[in-house]
Amino acid sequence: MFASVFSTVTVLAALAGFASAQQLTLTEPSSQRWWVANSQNTLRWTGSTPAEFSVFINNPDTSLLTSKLALISVQPLYEYSKTVTPTLKAGTGYVMELTNILNSSDIYVRSESFEIKAAGSSYPPQTSAGASGTASGSASGSASGSASAASASSSKAAAGRSNAVSMGVAGAMGAGAVVAGLVCL
Ligand SMILES: *[C@@H]1O[C@H](CO)[C@@H](O)[C@H](O)[C@H]1NC(C)=O
Repeated sequence: MFASVFSTVTVLAALAGFASAQQLTLTEPSSQRWWVANSQNTLRWTGSTPAEFSVFINNPDTSLLTSKLALISVQPLYEYSKTVTPTLKAGTGYVMELTNILNSSDIYVRSESFEIKAAGSSYPPQTSAGASGTASGSASGSASGSASAASASSSKAAAGRSNAVSMGVAGAMGAGAVVAGLVCL
């Protein structure tokens, strides 16, 4: 099982302001909103501060995950959702942590314990919340060797998922963009 997704690069991005505001809250995944292994899954949050954070996944069961794994190095708050395709083992007890980008021990939010179901399992029922804001990579001009793997996962994810987001992620992958090491092909 792969381990290093990316080394925690200390990005010299300045932290934005700390206005008193709505607290960061993770809404997906949760105990009711499971993920599916080797498929596209959605991370969703609410809140108005901080401006950015890092995303880690952890599991006390070391047979599932040997150590805390970085999924996203710097995630801007304003996107409010992100589709990722982590290569993780199916199992229960996973916990997501949203942390300070400069100090992963400074955990802003820890999710409920959630399950990653076996590849091919159905997703939880679709919520009304739109998965917008994650498609930074255009699907155009994305032909490359990785496109087939990307479209395979995006067609699977299309059931009950946002096509726009899937295509955006596939495009970003096809274009060779480093999506913060989320996708291990
Ligand atoms: C990182 O965060 C932890 C928890 O808030 C804190 O105890 C520690 O001092 C921080 N480390 C640095 C280098 O700021």
